[in-house]
Amino acid sequence: MTAKQTVLKYLPDDLEPERLPRHVAVIMDGNGRWAKQQGLPRIMGHRRGVDALKDLLRCCKDWGIEALTAYAFSTENWGRPLEEVDFLMTLFERVLRQELREMMQENVQIRFVGNLNSLPSSLQAEIERSMAETKENQGIKFTVATNYGGREEILQACRAIANQVKQGTLNPEEIDRSLFESHLYTAGICDPDLLIRTSGEMRISNFLLWQMAYAEIYITQTLWPDFDRKEFHQALSAYQRRDRRFGKV
Ligand code: IPE
Ligand code: IPE
Ligand code: MG
Repeated sequence: MTAKQTVLKYLPDDLEPERLPRHVAVIMDGNGRWAKQQGLPRIMGHRRGVDALKDLLRCCKDWGIEALTAYAFSTENWGRPLEEVDFLMTLFERVLRQELREMMQENVQIRFVGNLNSLPSSLQAEIERSMAETKENQGIKFTVATNYGGREEILQACRAIANQVKQGTLNPEEIDRSLFESHLYTAGICDPDLLIRTSGEMRISNFLLWQMAYAEIYITQTLWPDFDRKEFHQALSAYQRRDRRFGKV
């Protein structure tokens, strides 16, 4: 079966394959509130959140979405209680180690964006290993934003460009959109077409500030651990009803 036929086999009938977003980005929010509702500690929400992300990745793959980016940890999330931060770092590392083999089988190309140098060194090692091993995979491009901040991403690009100008290897006139984007963490990944945020919050929280310029935004009240295929289907239906004008008429 060709890739296209596989997509048509799994994709719900009411969705048009040629009008799917190429790149879906998701702010996975509401893990803590989900846990609280169940009378559980917040960390249990994060644990369940991993299952929801694995399901979404599989679904994107089945339905023929080219790229998925998930916001796992923001530069501001370091301000949370130490216990929660430690739990998250350990969780990321463990999940990465556990899932690598399946990602290889599923042809997933995983990539991490953010300030990775200040993550725990054992997590950095796991990140490097997973990126190196899946580098040549031609399936879905799965990006995880970890210690990610949109402002920091833009600033580090500015610093790199300013250094080139200072060294005389770049003319300020040469600084255009494409050059600037080549210095972002997301270089080589197309801009998100659809941004999904769970838990009803109507904000961007420092996520992909540059890349989000023309993303369609979809917000659901559902808390992240409860976000499933049915919810994703609804988000895609809403997306296909949108009229994307990009400033034109
Ligand atoms: C999102 O869920 C996960 C991370 C930010 C790591 P939250 O932990 O923000 O859950 P709420 O918003 O407190 O419910
Ligand atoms: C955004 O969620 C960050 C992630 C999902 C990783 P937050 O819960 O940290 O965002 P705010 O604090 O509600 O803006
Ligand atoms: Mg939150």
